[in-house]
Parts: sequence; structure tokens; C-alpha cells
Amino acid sequence: MVGNPSGDISRKSDTWGSRFGFIMAAVGSSVGLGNFWRFPYTAGENGGGAFILIYLLCVVAIGLPVLMGEYALGRKAGMSSVEGIQSLARNAGKSENWGIIGWVGVFASTFIVSFYMVISAWILAFVLQAIGGNFAGITPEQSGQNFGETISNRGNIMGLLLVFLIANAVIVGRGVKGGIEKAATILMPAFFIMLLGVVAFAVTTGDLKQTVSFLLSPDWSAVNFSTFLAALGQACFSLSVGSVLMVTYGSYLSRDTNIPRSSFIVAGADTMVAIIAGFAIFPIVFQAGLDPAGGPGLFFVSLPVAFGSIPGGNIIAMVFFSLALFAAFTSSISLYEVSVSWLEERHGVHRMGASMGMAFILFVVGVAYIYSGDYLDFVDFLTGNILLPLGALFIAIFIGWVLPKLDMLEEIEDQKLHAVWYTALRWFVPVFVGIILFFGIFDGLQDTFGVQMPAFMESLIGSNKSV
Ligand code: PFF
Repeated sequence: MVGNPSGDISRKSDTWGSRFGFIMAAVGSSVGLGNFWRFPYTAGENGGGAFILIYLLCVVAIGLPVLMGEYALGRKAGMSSVEGIQSLARNAGKSENWGIIGWVGVFASTFIVSFYMVISAWILAFVLQAIGGNFAGITPEQSGQNFGETISNRGNIMGLLLVFLIANAVIVGRGVKGGIEKAATILMPAFFIMLLGVVAFAVTTGDLKQTVSFLLSPDWSAVNFSTFLAALGQACFSLSVGSVLMVTYGSYLSRDTNIPRSSFIVAGADTMVAIIAGFAIFPIVFQAGLDPAGGPGLFFVSLPVAFGSIPGGNIIAMVFFSLALFAAFTSSISLYEVSVSWLEERHGVHRMGASMGMAFILFVVGVAYIYSGDYLDFVDFLTGNILLPLGALFIAIFIGWVLPKLDMLEEIEDQKLHAVWYTALRWFVPVFVGIILFFGIFDGLQDTFGVQMPAFMESLIGSNKSV
């Protein structure tokens, strides 16, 4: 490796090929397993409608301003996350140690990519099963057993993981314009067309009435701090904010891209896909009489049963799992990019070499998950519900409190919008995220792990539901 101890890193010379290409890559990063796998089961576990309203609030009031902030930081610095944040701090006469903010995001994205690849390998296995027509007439018990057998067929999953990792490495290794952007420009439009097909099928053949009442009529009685934490974590995970990935994507942005407009498009498209995914999944789940609160298995256990119980279900299953795979792929390449761009920039490693090296490391880590799957849920919770909101909190503090007030005006362009955005990052985001993280973590410790809280805390977060 060619180290760069002097800290002299120049602006990135690579840029996105076109605005459309950037939007496709950014939407591709946001739309992924978060929308298909994580959103439905999180909404299902948290009661549906009320959770979705809180989720929407988190997207608009937290996710969107932080997303704009990440792009702005990236374009202003012209460097990947950690380097960029360090250089902006240096230019503002502040300590380079603020780069730690970038590291929180890098940790989060590294942990996410480690399990993301494994779940993507499961999806690949399900695409193959759907092609083989395995789901016709499958019962819930058989489907549970099928899921268990599929993921414990370690040799098979390891092979699929390797295929998925190499595909990621090849695309990321080819660069931003020739790899990531090109893949997203082909896969995302294909994804949207398939999604519309599945929704049309689901709402015409599934139980739409029950879906509408589940998704749109809020039950506030089940809402507590952990609901807020789950919604906030889901918003960060789904939009890919807090991982500083969008700082890296922003560093490839040219001057003629409007950051606020692009952020609206990305957040809007991601949210729409999540809701549409709900309308593609729940009608079929209800129609088959299955439990919407089925947990992480909802996707892999309930859906095959649901698909298997309807005429033409096998084809729909094939399309559905393929589109989930496309979405997962355009997100996983973005997660890859965080470390590859850093290795390239900081250590002068060739992109293809860095990508292949990452594939090797992720394969080793992936094999560990394949052998001890229990960690997966924990790492998902830790990254989604804690590290990403923490990353978002730090980015808000960095822009709102560390950098000079007008530092980002040039990036946001519009003065009025800048004022609203800056106030959100300076006040609303830190206070809201701080409170939710603090109480949400105690609530989670109490309800999930049965830790007894002192009486004053219990009066704030509610009684222990685990006893
Ligand atoms: N947003 C992606 C999804 O919804 O699946 C997951 C993700 C990608 C999270 C990239 C964080 C990230 F940096």
C-alpha cells in the first residue's frame, strides 16, 4: 500500500456521468433490503399505521435534512467521508478529530455490509427456488422448514455469497461512472417496472381491505419510545443516512446538480417504494391468513406461502425475489464504495484491488454469520437503531455547531431553504434524535432484555413488558 501520511489528499477527479445517473445510483443505494425485508417486518412488529406515521415524520424531519447535509459536506470537501470531514474541520479552524464523526458512519456501513451480503445471498437462493417452482402449495410449516434448511445449507449459501460478493467487487472496481452508475441506470428502471407489476397483482388478488386498515389506521396505544427508536432507525437505514456514505456519493457531484432537489427525489422515491412494498407484501400475507408481525422471517417464510397459495404465484415469486435482489445489489455496491473509495484515496490502492480485497474480507466475515446466525439480528439492531441515528446526530452537530453557519450556503443555494435546513440540523435533529436514542435504548433494554429500570425511568418509558 502506498500510504499517505502527509494528509495531502486532493479533490476527487472522478464525477457522476450525468444527473440522471447520480439520481439512479443514489436511489439505488437507498432502495434496498431496508424497503422489502426490514420495513414490512418492522412495521408489522410495531403495529402498522402509527409506526408508519412516525416513520414518515422521521424521514421528513430527520432523514431529509441529514441527507442534504451529507451531500453538501461531500461536494464541498470533494473527498470521501472521513477525509472530507477532517478537511472541512481543518478549513474551519477546528480540530481534525471531528473526523471521528466519519468513523462512526464507516463502522456502521462496514457492519451493515457484512450482514447485508449474507441476506442478499439468501435472496439469491430464493430466486433460484422460485425459478425451480418450489413454492407451489407450500404450507407455513413447510415454508419455515424450507427457510431453516436453506440458510443452514452452509455450502450453498457460501457459494451464493461468493457470487454476490464478486459481482459487487467487479462493479465497484470498475469505478463510479463505469461501474456503480452504469449498473444502477440499468437495474433501477427494471426494478421499478417489476415492482409495479407485483403491486398490481397483489392489490387485485390479495386482501386489500385488511391491508389498508392495517397500514393506514394508527393504533396509538402500542406506541412507546422503542416504537420511535425503531422508526428513526428504519428511516436512517432506509435512506442510507448516518453512514456518511452519501458524503462519499456527494464528493462525486458536479456543481450543476441541485442538492436539495436531488435529496427530495431520493427521500421521496425511497419512501414511496417502502409504502408500495407494504402494498405488495401485506395483501398477500393477509390473503393467506398469516401474521404481519412475523419478524425478520416475514419475507422468507410468509411470502413463499403466500405466493404458493395463489394462481400464477410462482412467476410472481420469481419476479418479486429478483427485484429484491436488484435493489439489494444497488445498495450493497454503495456500501462497498465507502471503504473502496477510502482505500483508493488514502492509501492509493487500485480500485479493483481494493474491491477484491474487500470481497475476501467480507467473505470471511460472512462465513462467520453463516455459522452463527444469532449475531445477525443483534448487528442489524445495533447498526440500524443505534449507530446510524448516532451518525445522523453527529452530522447534524458538525454542520449545526462546528462549521461556520454559512459554510454550506453555496451547496444548498437557496437562502431561505438554507435557514430552515440549518435550524433543523442545529436544533431539531440533535434534540429529537438525542431524546429518542436515550430513552429508546433504555426502553429496549427493559423490554427486550428484561433489565429492571428505576421507578422514575419506568414512569417515563412505561412498565417492563418482558415480565
Ligand atoms: N438503504 C439501504 C436499504 O434500504 O436497504 C441500506 C443501506 C445502504 C444502509 C447503505 C446504509 C448505507 F450506508
